[in-house]
Amino acid sequence: MSENRTFWENEERLLDERVSRATWPGGQKAVDRLAKQGKKPVRELVQLLIDPDTEFYELSRIAGFGVNYPGGIEDVPCAGLVTGIGKINGNWTMIFGNDSRVKAGTYFPITLKKHIRAQAIAERCGLNCVYIADSGGAFLPMQADVFPDDGHFGSMFYNMARMSAMGLKQVTLSTGGNTAGGAYIVFMACQSIMIDKMSYSFLGGPPLVKMATGEVISAEDLGGAKVHTQISGGADHFCGDQEEAVYKVREILALEKPQEISIHRYAESPPASGADSIYDIMPAQIHQSIDGRKVLECIADDSYFYEYKRDYAPGRGDNIVAGKIRIKGIPVGVIASNSVGIIFAEAARKAAEWIVRCSQEKTPLLFVQNAPGYMVGSESEHMGIGKYGSDMVRSVSCAQVPRIQLVIGPDNGAANYGMCGRAYRPHFLFHTMRARTGVMSGRSAAGVLLSIEERKREVKGNPMTDEEKQAFSQKMIEKYDGEAHPFYCGSRILNDRVLKFSEIRDWLAMAFEVSLLQPIGEPSFGNFRF
Ligand code: COA
Repeated sequence: MSENRTFWENEERLLDERVSRATWPGGQKAVDRLAKQGKKPVRELVQLLIDPDTEFYELSRIAGFGVNYPGGIEDVPCAGLVTGIGKINGNWTMIFGNDSRVKAGTYFPITLKKHIRAQAIAERCGLNCVYIADSGGAFLPMQADVFPDDGHFGSMFYNMARMSAMGLKQVTLSTGGNTAGGAYIVFMACQSIMIDKMSYSFLGGPPLVKMATGEVISAEDLGGAKVHTQISGGADHFCGDQEEAVYKVREILALEKPQEISIHRYAESPPASGADSIYDIMPAQIHQSIDGRKVLECIADDSYFYEYKRDYAPGRGDNIVAGKIRIKGIPVGVIASNSVGIIFAEAARKAAEWIVRCSQEKTPLLFVQNAPGYMVGSESEHMGIGKYGSDMVRSVSCAQVPRIQLVIGPDNGAANYGMCGRAYRPHFLFHTMRARTGVMSGRSAAGVLLSIEERKREVKGNPMTDEEKQAFSQKMIEKYDGEAHPFYCGSRILNDRVLKFSEIRDWLAMAFEVSLLQPIGEPSFGNFRF
């Protein structure tokens, strides 16, 4: 077994541990508590909901670790919410499920970010949404951070209303409490299902009603399944238990039009070099040179990479390789880092050209990112690295085709922009355990900040000692490298999932398929400098 493989398998074991902590909050005790209420853990419900023997592509599983909210709340495992994409009756569907084991499924800032990110994917890709609702609503001690702003609690319902107007079904299966603002998840749905003596939905719960009006009433009589399906009409289907309710969701979505992707899909075939060999070729050192072509061979059908401008400006132009591959039959344009990945002017020009060509041909784009930045220095500035880098950023920003970013190494500075980082709204953004996303590497940041600190201390007449300099640098390296790590980025939903190397091909195939369900717009790029 290669040293690289051993290293990455160990790293991915750490990922597994984190995911296990995220998906089993409260351990067996919490599962037993649910069972007493006649409830299954939320992922079991999701598995029943999707087509048998199909996979649930769960997003943002490690969101919410290390968030350090008031009241000593360090972690909100999985952000208290499951989101992901699965097939219902053959159609890709966005599925949401509150995990009531995490503070009664209440919404923290990170929960909202996760919910709204999944709604954004659904809206952009034209996916119906199913909400498995079981939530205490806003996490009340943080109301100022979850209630009043755009992107806060109200945005979830705004999005539901707009998506349903676009013809995207919004179906709610209520399987617990839905109080105050949270009740709207039931009432705003195109169709909603409530379960006898399990689902409740009211604008004010019994304690609030007693306080406000003096009326003493049980939750069941105030807003239970019978009340809303037989009296108020706020919900549409009455079910006896969770299984029946899940079946009802599938029935509601049974007559949806079958989805089709908007470009031709070829017959699929596996990579000739074996997808798994990626473990051997990825260097354990983050800044060590990679072979971008070999990486693509591990992802592509037949390991076939059709390369654009292979011979252009060797040593400078080939720090990015561009071309086409097929992933499970889907043709994909690629812009992939190569070697140490520093982007020279020639590489930026080639990449911008290829992005424009793919947009004109309506071929979706994959950015495989391993770039620590654009090349600096007078030679590069005079060559026009600024303007060619900007052309690359402009083409990435304006391309109308689906774009996906996969980060497999350094992801710093403006290279993050040119290679379609989060601000450039890729349809999906995936990290691997080798990804490091930050404004600069820990070493560079320490160098810059140390020189500023040294100057300040000299002006004060108190120059830094060698020990102080070393301690200062070490602290900065740890901070910057820590914040660039996929665990940190995953916790804050700066990626949609941290993928194992072995998952890359399946996930990219799913993500391109889902991103291609909507028609592709016409290209329009504004003013290039060339
Ligand atoms: N804000 C902050 N914390 C909340 C909360 C909220 N809205 N709702 C529940 N919690 C906390 C509880 O304090 C408890 O914390 P603990 O584990 O540290 O003790 C935890 O979540 C579990 O709540 P619990 O009441 O024990 O769970 P349950 O399954 O018996 O009941 C609810 C769940 C949702 C029915 C019940 O918690 C409830 O009615 N919550 C208030 C809902 C509300 O009025 N929301 C308005 C906001 S828009």
